[in-house]
Amino acid sequence: MYEPVTRNDIKGSLLMRNILSTIIILALLSAPLLAISVVPHGESAPVYLESAASVFERGPTVNLVSNDSATIFWRTASPEDSAVFYGKNTSLLESVTSATTVVNHTITLSSLDINTKYYYKVKSGTLESEVYYFFTAPADGEEFRLVIAGDNRPSSSDAPNQPQMFSDIADLIIAKEPHLVVLTGDYVYEVTSSHENNLVAWKKFTDIIDRIGHYAPVIGAIGNHDTGTSSGAYQPRYYLDAFMNSGENKTYFSLDYAGTHLTFIDSEELGKEGHIQGTQYDWLVSDLTTASGEMKFVFAHRPLYPTSHIGSGLDINTTERNTLQQLFEEKNVTLFASGHDHAYSRVTVNGVVHIITGGLGAPPYDSPWSDPIYHFVLSTVSAHSVNFTVIKSDESVHAQYVLPYEGPMEIVDRIIANTSSKAIGTVPVILFSEKPVTKYFSWDGGPNTTEVTGLPGPEGEHTLDVYAEDSDGIWTSARFIFNTIIPNTFSPPDDTTPPILVFDPIVVLGLVGTVAIVVVLGVYILKKRR
Ligand SMILES: [Fe+2]
Repeated sequence: MYEPVTRNDIKGSLLMRNILSTIIILALLSAPLLAISVVPHGESAPVYLESAASVFERGPTVNLVSNDSATIFWRTASPEDSAVFYGKNTSLLESVTSATTVVNHTITLSSLDINTKYYYKVKSGTLESEVYYFFTAPADGEEFRLVIAGDNRPSSSDAPNQPQMFSDIADLIIAKEPHLVVLTGDYVYEVTSSHENNLVAWKKFTDIIDRIGHYAPVIGAIGNHDTGTSSGAYQPRYYLDAFMNSGENKTYFSLDYAGTHLTFIDSEELGKEGHIQGTQYDWLVSDLTTASGEMKFVFAHRPLYPTSHIGSGLDINTTERNTLQQLFEEKNVTLFASGHDHAYSRVTVNGVVHIITGGLGAPPYDSPWSDPIYHFVLSTVSAHSVNFTVIKSDESVHAQYVLPYEGPMEIVDRIIANTSSKAIGTVPVILFSEKPVTKYFSWDGGPNTTEVTGLPGPEGEHTLDVYAEDSDGIWTSARFIFNTIIPNTFSPPDDTTPPILVFDPIVVLGLVGTVAIVVVLGVYILKKRR
């Protein structure tokens, strides 16, 4: 199941790497004589040279960790036997071995102690890894450390190389010793029609996530840059190969970890990009209905409430977006985390926290509702609380948010930024952090209405006051300022009136004649039969 990249693919890429390695080694040897540097500015030597030297094609990585088991994965260039040595200290007194020679090595360690640090190394033939460590899961409901981050992809001019920022933040993530790491998509710049190019691009990505994966399972949602729909055929195979996820070869799936239910949905299904529909939507409803965890987290690449890609997140169809939001409310989803916008933002809608975390290295996006920062989110999760800390690339804390939230109801606007100009009649989207018991809206200090109406005329600045009462009877208010502009009043001629039918006499005569001939022939045939 976990072998979507075939042996021939690996052989082909290995041959290419060997040729490139030879060229680069010759260049390295001749560099002192020529007094030139063979290492490009701003990055280390090409990854395929490094991997040819270390020989491990992938990993080792720790995956599918429960409170008493873990699966260790690694890939070798040629078929080899497998051995994992492990223990609670670096003596690594225990081992699991397999004499079967394979390229993809998958060894499961069982009967482990709960919430315990285990050290391990792997061995295949004469190859031996360094010693790494991981943590088994805590008991259900007990606290664990979860890192959420996304959008590491390079810009078009840097592809296929990965951003140095991604590599730097990977080190910060490792230092936090998370139990689990979740990525929200867009791992490479694009999946092309060239298999060789794709292997190189994804190898550069997995070389970095496997550094994190030495220490913690890395689980990823699929992003729009990871499928190849914009250039070349739909090819999720590279994404599926990069992550072991829940052990299923699927782009949407769920798992339970320490009593928290983690659901990953695919916002990039072929022909349904930006939608969660059909079989997947039915699965999502069923998954959230049957989930046993006290906490429910949902992850996808595209946000429900984007800050930059407004109208091309999961809000392409706002009715569908509202249906998803309603489903999350009904099923008590605590958190929905996404990427796609290269920034950080949080908005809480009717009790569901929406985080956009797209700060792993892709070019940052600025917008009125988000922070264009390189960052990751470190979360401590238990059955009773969730604590989100947004950590910037300089290790400073950018924001914190704690659940259960204690504070005034948050009232925010999306779609129209404060003081921005919109046409008369455009309706603002006002979101409340919890469902208000009562709410009122007032344009320009006028009468209160229970539903927000569109921007009033005349042209110029207008204020919208919003008042909301929470379940404790506490009122909160917010004021928004918008500039109204006169919409283009030109209206095209009404072309909905059905055209007047004019019958051509020649056509009418032709039709009458045809009918007459058919009738005469019919009567003749009937008489003949008698
Ligand atoms: Fe994206």
